[in-house]
Amino acid sequence: MKLTLDVATKRFSEKFSASAKLAQDATKYIPGGGSRSIVKVGPHPIFVENGEGAYITTVEGHKLCDFHNNFSTNVLGHNHPEIRKALEEVCNQGWSFGNPTKYEAQLARILCERIESVERVVFMMSGTEACMASATLARAFTGKGKIAKLEGGYHGTSNDFWWSIHPDGPSFVNCGLSTNPKPSPESLGVPEALRGNTITMPQNDLDTCVRIIRENAKDLAAVILELQTGAGGLITLERNFVEGLRAVTRELGIVLIFDEVISFRMDEGGMQNIYDIKPDLTCMGKAIGGGIPIGAVGGLDEIMQLNETGQVFHSGTHHGHALSCAAGVACLTNFTQPLIEKMNQQGQKIKNDLLQFVTEKNYPVNLTGIGSAIGFEMLDQAGRSINSCRDIMTYCDDTASQTFNFELITRGYLPMWSRGQAVLCTPLTDDNIGGFIETAKEILEEMY
Ligand SMILES: Cc1ncc(COP(=O)(O)O)c(C=O)c1O
Repeated sequence: MKLTLDVATKRFSEKFSASAKLAQDATKYIPGGGSRSIVKVGPHPIFVENGEGAYITTVEGHKLCDFHNNFSTNVLGHNHPEIRKALEEVCNQGWSFGNPTKYEAQLARILCERIESVERVVFMMSGTEACMASATLARAFTGKGKIAKLEGGYHGTSNDFWWSIHPDGPSFVNCGLSTNPKPSPESLGVPEALRGNTITMPQNDLDTCVRIIRENAKDLAAVILELQTGAGGLITLERNFVEGLRAVTRELGIVLIFDEVISFRMDEGGMQNIYDIKPDLTCMGKAIGGGIPIGAVGGLDEIMQLNETGQVFHSGTHHGHALSCAAGVACLTNFTQPLIEKMNQQGQKIKNDLLQFVTEKNYPVNLTGIGSAIGFEMLDQAGRSINSCRDIMTYCDDTASQTFNFELITRGYLPMWSRGQAVLCTPLTDDNIGGFIETAKEILEEMY
């Protein structure tokens, strides 16, 4: 008998029944039972008791091997002794001051030394705020108002960027043709008056993007992109596409922003170091805070100076918080290039092995991504090539994808099940990687 979504959902619900109860109780006070829409996928979220190394333990007492890592944040896994030590040190000193602490400058220095394009950097509390701040800096620097983003690109939950993260496939009625895309709001509540402030462009289609950028050049402050997307489905931008965007933005005086909130983890100098392409500004978050809330934007001194002169106001009660910065310093000090490379190789092994398997079996499964992030999409048929979020939305078989993801969890491996992705952390052993691959194969054999 084939493994179906009904069977997978039933097994999931039976295994995580205590979580179901907690989720149900929480809805009395929190709409939907939790403050992150993204974790409310499937029957209910899974509540965690604790995390250690590459594992989390759920409230039911099940140990799951973590291929989720808080949406890629926990590069060193859970409860890393050095991060813990840094947090304890801060706690012993007191943790909320209206003054800076030494940790902020330490973290700033590490980021400037690691990422060549980042000459100076400022902090905030989230990646969302980092992207918002980068747009403000770009507008102030250029004196222009509009921002262009790629379809499928996620830059947090603010009005400037909440467009066409998941263009409304499969008919794309509100988004137009990919060669002439129209921005579609990702949520109710995005002000209609802002339509037109954000321009959307197709991934990996340089000719169309260059045409759109040239048409809008006199109004365009910035182009923002993720070199490899996460929330909008895992698509890796082609290097010559990014190079083309770098050239045209430089020519037209438009600020090029790389959102490296996730992709920073791919190299000690960020994914831009792998591409060898320098943006004007870089947005960061997640891993650079060692698991404590953080965001940062850094880049060319001539832009960042706007914060120094006060022409661009930058402030926030918790900006540069000692806990996030101290944890970030400890995390990055231990997140070294050899460890990053080992993790990237493990990611490549998962993709190579599973790709070979699904190709031999002619299963309709696509594997995307480079480095320590792996995208796996169950599709309508085998052999499709996936180059953009529109391809994913057109060809993805959601039922099959959910079946696969729920089964992985029930069998002890926690992927980012809302997205059909996995992301690694350094404590994962080769045995863990092998176990993930074999389990994935077993599930696919039962599904197809
Ligand atoms: C690429 C990217 N940019 C920005 C953000 C927003 O970061 P935060 O959730 O910390 O606000 C995210 C979060 O997932 C992200 O993946």
